[in-house]
Formats: sequence, C-alpha cells, structure tokens
Amino acid sequence: MIDTHAHLDFSQFDKDRDEVISTCKKNGVQFIINIGVDLKSSLAGIKLAEKYDFIYATVGFHPHDAKNLTDSAFDELQKLATHPKVVGIGEIGLDFYRNLSPVKLQEKAFIKQLDLAKKLNLPVVLHIRKALDQAYEILHRRGHGQGILHAFPGDKSYAIEGIDMGYYIAFGGPITYPNSRGPAVAGSIPISRILTETDCPYLPPQKYRGKRNQPDYVRYVIEKLVEVFPKYIFEDIRRITIKNAGRVFNIPVDDTPMLVYKIGKSLYINLTGRCTNNCYFCPKNHGFHVAGHNLKLNREPDEKEILQKMSEQDNYNEIVFCGLGEPTLRADLMLSLAKSLKEKKTPIRLNTNGQGNLINKTDLSKKMAGLIDIVNVSLNAHDEKTYNGICQPQFGEKVFDKVIDFARRCKQMGINTIFSVVDIPEIEIEACKKIADNIGIPLRVRKYAP
Ligand code: NI
Repeated sequence: MIDTHAHLDFSQFDKDRDEVISTCKKNGVQFIINIGVDLKSSLAGIKLAEKYDFIYATVGFHPHDAKNLTDSAFDELQKLATHPKVVGIGEIGLDFYRNLSPVKLQEKAFIKQLDLAKKLNLPVVLHIRKALDQAYEILHRRGHGQGILHAFPGDKSYAIEGIDMGYYIAFGGPITYPNSRGPAVAGSIPISRILTETDCPYLPPQKYRGKRNQPDYVRYVIEKLVEVFPKYIFEDIRRITIKNAGRVFNIPVDDTPMLVYKIGKSLYINLTGRCTNNCYFCPKNHGFHVAGHNLKLNREPDEKEILQKMSEQDNYNEIVFCGLGEPTLRADLMLSLAKSLKEKKTPIRLNTNGQGNLINKTDLSKKMAGLIDIVNVSLNAHDEKTYNGICQPQFGEKVFDKVIDFARRCKQMGINTIFSVVDIPEIEIEACKKIADNIGIPLRVRKYAP
C-alpha cells in the first residue's frame, strides 16, 4: 500500500514516530510520501526520508502559510527541492475556507511554486478548499498538468476536468464516511488516475474517527475503492494505486513485465504482444499497462516458462488467454497449454479478435472444441467500414465477416461464445446487438476508459 500524503513530521507523532513508521511497514505500507507545509516541515520530511528508504518527501508552502513565503524562504525551498529524495512540490494551492493567509498572497505563492515545479519537472501536491474555480483557472494558465488533487473537494465534473488537465485524484479517510460523495466521484473516473492517501494525523477513516490517523489506515480507503470497483479485489487496487503513484512521483515501484497475472479471481496468460489489429483504443498505445500489470513482453515465452509462472499462483477460478496481443497467433502453444491445464478443471477462456482462422489458415474453432470453454470475441464494430477504421486489420478490408463467422463456428463447436464491444462513439451498440442476436450470441459492452 502507499500513503501519498502523510505529515509524519507533525508534533502529534513526536512521542512514537519511529514506532508508527515501523508498524506501518509491518502492516504492508510500501511507500510513504511525507508532505511539507512550510520550510520547517519540508526539512523535517527530508530528514525522515533520509532515515527511511521507503519514505519520500515533498517540499512546499501550504496556502495557510503562503504569507511566510518570503524571497529568502523561496530560495531555501528551491535548494531543498533538489534533494534526491524530494519527489514533488507541495502541498500548495488555495484555501479560502480558513483564509489563514490573505487571498492575494495565497495566489502569489501558488503561482510561484507551480512555476518552480515546472522548472524542476516535479509533480505538485494540490490542496484546494472552497477555491476550486480560482485554483483551476490558475492551473489551466500556469500548471504543467503533473501532480495530485489531494483531499479532492469537488464533484464529478471537477474530477473529470482535473484529470483532463493531467492530474491524479487522491482519496483518503473521508471516502469511508457515511454520505461521502467520494465513492461516486471515484466511480466516475478511471482507476488508473486514483491514488490513496491519509493526510495523517488528520482525517482518519470512519473506524478511527476522533483518533489520530496513520499511514497504514490507507487500507480502509482501498477497501472502500474495492466496493466502488467491484471487478477488482483488494490486491488489485493495492497494486494499481502503487503503480499510479510510481508514475506520478517517479519512485521505484516494481514494474516487471508479467507472463502470468491476476485480476480479480481470473488468472491471465500473456502469450504474445503481437496482434493482427491495431485498434486505437488498445492499452498498448498508452503504456502497455492493464490493471496495474505491465504486459510488455521483451520476448515471447515458451510453455515451460508459463507453467512455471502459473505454479506460483493460486486462488483463481478461471484461466484466460489474453494480454495485449492476439493469443491465436500462438495457437499451437495455447492449445497445448489448454491440454495440459485441462486436468485442473478450471474453466479456460480465450479473449480474441476473432481472426484465429485467418491467422492459422485452418478451422481453429474445431481444434479449440473440448479444450477452450469460453471464447470472448471482440466484435469491435457494427459494420465492416467502421471495423476497418477502428481496428486497421492487417488482413485487409474483408475481415469483419470472418470475425462473425469465427464466433458462429465456435458456438457450433459447443464453446460458450460471447461478443464484446467497447462503448466508443463510433460504434452503434444497437446494431452490434442485432448482429449478435442473429446468431444467438450474447453481447457484452465494455466501458471505455481513455
Ligand atoms: Ni495535508
């Protein structure tokens, strides 16, 4: 787990700081980002980061302390920002709720620190309270679109606007409060842009309200996010939020390419990165990650490697041939694996672009019968022209009908066959449904998260 917003330097931790930190480590906190609010706390955060390898620091002047950001303080801040364990500028922003610094000075300090972050190519940690419109106006004008909206105070439309500018959104203890709008806001944005935080010692989760917060309580935030994204389990959200934070703060999170990987209770086998389509919505175009897994293969694995990796996994109820490539490009390997996995009695699914017969110049559906239990064919469009526009198939213009034919044959072979489409604007879902209905195959519509 990662806490992207802690104030472990605050006096609330003076009596037992090291104990709290070691408890958090024991309880599975992999990284902590300690956030500065003025010069003193920025320096204290750096000291903690020097002492503990899994703690990093940001430096900055909180809007409450904007009035203290003198020229000499700013020079000092600039120096601190070049420390190797400083990974961001913050927390900075506007707070018109408490107005502990005059508005004009808050704006001035905010802009100055945004410019510093841009100059040093560091992300910003943004604290915005009762000032979203004013802060967004400044961010549009002067921000560099890297960083985090911390303790997100807005509704869905502000969340989407923030993401469109490039920022990630962090959720903390308040998402666990009854009547919090946090879950609805989180559910309206892609999980790939969500981070976990505590703001400790403040804002504890519901279970510890009135008590001091601490970094390992991000567990309760993750649990809430599992409710919001039911296709994921705790482990998925844990992994995804760490990967997300790794991207934002450029910290060394494990990003090993995966031959075999789990999402929810499904075990996926990544046979190849090659594909005979080039769909514009493919995650390959956005960094080769799916649900926090790096799927970029440096080379194609063989059967022995895959079986070895599979033996390291447990607690799954489905095996899926998937990945970012087209599994039927390695049909022989896939069928051979399916044969040796059959005795496990775990259902085996194939996610495919439906071009297996074209690729293998044979009726692959016949060979799959009895080995593959479920086949999910990406229909991708409602007609040939749209298909070619979206997918740019290597096999030329006449592929769409062959895809439908492949699905039909799979169904005839007794394989449980499903069509899927992604809900992008070019695709007429109703027309897709008609095609699927005509041959008696159910259609699944997947949400597109750009
Ligand atoms: Ni804070």
